[in-house]
Amino acid sequence: MSPLTPSPLSRRQWLKSSGLVAGGALATGTLDPARLAALGADAAPHVLDGQTTAAGFAAHERMMAALRRADGPIRLASNENPYGMAPSARQAIEAGWKQHAWYGAPSLPNLRKVYAQSVGVPEDHVLVLAGSSELLSIAVIAYGLKGEVLTAWPTFEGLPRYAESMGLRVHKVPLDANLAHDLEAMDKRLVQAVDLVFVCNPNNPTGTLTDNRRLRQFVSSAARRAMVIVDEAYHDFVDDPDYSSCIDMVKAGENVIISRTASKIHGLAGLRTGFVIARPDIIARLSAASTSAPGVLGALGAAASIQDTAYQTMCKQRNAEGRAIMRTALQQLGRRMTNSQTNFVFFHAGMPVEKVQAAMLAKGFMVGRAFPPYNDWVRVSVGTPEEMKQVAAVLPGVLAGAAKSMGSSEG
Ligand SMILES: Cc1ncc(COP(=O)(O)O)c(C=O)c1O
Repeated sequence: MSPLTPSPLSRRQWLKSSGLVAGGALATGTLDPARLAALGADAAPHVLDGQTTAAGFAAHERMMAALRRADGPIRLASNENPYGMAPSARQAIEAGWKQHAWYGAPSLPNLRKVYAQSVGVPEDHVLVLAGSSELLSIAVIAYGLKGEVLTAWPTFEGLPRYAESMGLRVHKVPLDANLAHDLEAMDKRLVQAVDLVFVCNPNNPTGTLTDNRRLRQFVSSAARRAMVIVDEAYHDFVDDPDYSSCIDMVKAGENVIISRTASKIHGLAGLRTGFVIARPDIIARLSAASTSAPGVLGALGAAASIQDTAYQTMCKQRNAEGRAIMRTALQQLGRRMTNSQTNFVFFHAGMPVEKVQAAMLAKGFMVGRAFPPYNDWVRVSVGTPEEMKQVAAVLPGVLAGAAKSMGSSEG
């Protein structure tokens, strides 16, 4: 059994202790349509004019929460959307599913068109890829192979890891005291040899935004000397009014590539759909380096979800509720945490993250791994507000217990 799989006994105990077996509906871990209906999942009209209705979202939320509980342990380790795909996306996939057998299905150009419209750029400024991770590799091939790479550290590892695997030198500039990008230090490391700069805003794993005015100055000035990628995977969760996307720099013709994804707010991580926004000549060069094509089902789902602004708003709002529950809990525990603007929180546990991971797993929750050098910080993805209340309830005991076990093993 993998260390991340709880024993059947511990899972059952956890379900019982958290009151999730009420009525026995979930006790067996299987959910047939009759059970879903009993949970109220299909009682409401889910979608009207392409928009998920409030009642539809509530029913969808009940269904997804039940499915997550039945699957156990609850996934809070990879910054996924606990609600998964929008009901509108599911309808679109069901309606267009026969395209799965085709090459050149119309859903792919349609997604490009829909996405370009949604962000206000011409279609030739958009590339759809098999997840935004693909961009983080092909950008290295297209723009980085002859030089060096500059990035903050820690940050999302896709691009720096791929660059290193290609034998490139990666300048990793430590984050500042607020765990945001240290732009002054990055500017100093922007040496002649650097061809590719990677900026993640908000940053993963810290959830932090970097000061908007200074970040924009940095990106613009770096773009005069190198290609700059701004990874905005968590753009849709930000509520800081000072934040703005760097997309306008693309519209202004700068050497800037914006990376976005359908994996987060749209809940389609498993369907591998990502978006690139850049000047047409940059799009053409990236496209030539691309090694795969996005799947049809992801394209069908993403196109519907992008137009379903109601679903996005409801996911964002529920995420903010869950994030606030975690913030309050961590404040009460006196833990240092970042001001996360994403669908995860990052806090100081004061003990090796592996201890916290193991203790949380015993309670039925998977949480994030270590992000060196922040080995005693923990990243917890935001689940449903109900799940976050359960996390908040077990956290004091988990941290106390993990600290105790550390004391005894080390003492
Ligand atoms: C900052 C950031 N960029 C990119 C990705 C990868 O996203 P995708 O699923 O589109 O490959 C992630 C995934 O967690 C991420 O956190």
